[in-house]
Amino acid sequence: MNACIRAVVRTAVFHHVEVYGIYRGYNGMINGRFIKMESHSVSNIVQKGGTMLKSARSEEFLTKEGRQRAYEQLKENEIDGMIAIGGNGTFTGANLFYEEYGIPTVGAPGTIDNDLYGTDYTIGYDTAVNTALDAIDKIRDTADSHERVFFIEVMGRDSGYIAMPCAIGGGAEIVMIPETINTTQNVIDTLRNGWERHKTSFIIIVAEGDAEGNANELAFKVKKEIPEMDARVTIIGHVQRGGAPTAADRLLASRLGIAAVEGLLQGKKNKMVGLVNSKIEYTPFIDTISKKKAIAEDFIRMVKILSI
Ligand code: F6P
Repeated sequence: MNACIRAVVRTAVFHHVEVYGIYRGYNGMINGRFIKMESHSVSNIVQKGGTMLKSARSEEFLTKEGRQRAYEQLKENEIDGMIAIGGNGTFTGANLFYEEYGIPTVGAPGTIDNDLYGTDYTIGYDTAVNTALDAIDKIRDTADSHERVFFIEVMGRDSGYIAMPCAIGGGAEIVMIPETINTTQNVIDTLRNGWERHKTSFIIIVAEGDAEGNANELAFKVKKEIPEMDARVTIIGHVQRGGAPTAADRLLASRLGIAAVEGLLQGKKNKMVGLVNSKIEYTPFIDTISKKKAIAEDFIRMVKILSI
């Protein structure tokens, strides 16, 4: 997100537009936490994870009074256009705010989950996947040497977009994601089958939001059926959400930040900027929040072929 903030500020300065940062998201907007940004305000952040502006979920913005206060703050500070970086919740708020007060807003997709309709990739996704893969590679050493089964949980409350490349790149035998049905029985059968073929270690990637349960729950059910297997659970967790962004993420964030500001200046509003088939596209907020981004079919096929 820092790389995107940097691109937004620098693009505004480039086009001679005054630019302010809002601290702590919608909460900051309600409480008037505006800070004038110059080119140097965003120096030395492109390589840092997180966001220099901080982030907060805002209960108050969900209320009419909260949004009214936010609007008054914007007017007082003579703000007449906004860039919002975030995911589904951010754009749901932005869409509502635009409908009520008509402040032109362009969104940039910032979530590690990559589950937003209207962009092939979201900012932070590539970094999260690479971080998880690095951990999976390390866990594999124990799985292989000690001949164990590992249930590895990756993030993705409603989406298997992180789990899929982790499974393909990490050489997993099984992947469990919310978008497809893979039963516990199938996991048990696959493990037994592999065991009979003298396979001695297994990696099972579990997206935290899978219908069969998280990694702990799934491992518990499997262990009951195959107690002779030495199974362990690793939850990779929030390390996936931080750290220095990859080159791909820095480029994406910079590109989308520039396109967000230039789109706003060209009159785009109530839309999210995204990258679709390597091209910049603007998708209405209503579509990004209401349409489901399906998991790529070839991911599913690849796992099937490669885990044989
Ligand atoms: O929505 C992005 C996400 O990273 C999910 O994958 C994850 O479940 C969630 O955020 C974690 O949120 P929190 O840090 O609030 O626990």
